Amino acid sequence: MKKAIVVSGCPGTGKTKVAKLISKKRGCEYVGTKNVINEFGLVEGYDKKMKSFIVDTDKLSKVLVGLIKKSTKTLVIDGHLSHYVPRKYVKLCIITKCDIKILKKRLERRGYSKSKVRDNLDAEIFDTCHVEALEFGHKIKVIDTSKGIRPSSLAL
Ligand SMILES: Nc1ncnc2c1ncn2[C@@H]1O[C@H](COP(=O)(O)OP(=O)(O)O)[C@@H](O)[C@H]1O
Ligand SMILES: [Mg+2]
Repeated sequence: MKKAIVVSGCPGTGKTKVAKLISKKRGCEYVGTKNVINEFGLVEGYDKKMKSFIVDTDKLSKVLVGLIKKSTKTLVIDGHLSHYVPRKYVKLCIITKCDIKILKKRLERRGYSKSKVRDNLDAEIFDTCHVEALEFGHKIKVIDTSKGIRPSSLAL
């Protein structure tokens, strides 16, 4: 088993971009948690207020651990719940961050409602994913994508 690299962070902070760049650069296998959630039917409901799907994080974590154990390659797992994978299966947890004003523009460009933009900005301000990743005991590297991604920041 090869330990995975997980890429977490609030929506719009650049996870997918960073995860795909790292996979390509290091010959790792890219895994999008959204695809995993759909493929394994892990959606449990819909939160109308948050306008987002409810996912059982325990089940997701178990499925991801299964994929990590099975794969011969290092997986790069992209998603704001990817830090729920237990520490012993993760060699590095990358947290993407973004300046609030720039993040606001990125989220508005996605067509998110005012309240969804607000909620996601709050999550970034409170550093939610980073704090949770710390609680999981991960080794963490923060990458700020506000002004583009410097190749040197991808040297892990
Ligand atoms: N380093 C960057 N410089 C400029 N724009 C970026 C950068 N990283 C991401 N973006 C843009 O921000 C948006 C969100 O990036 P994405 O990787 O999809 O974030 P996430 O997967 O965290 O939601 C995309 O439109 C993307 O093109
Ligand atoms: Mg993404």
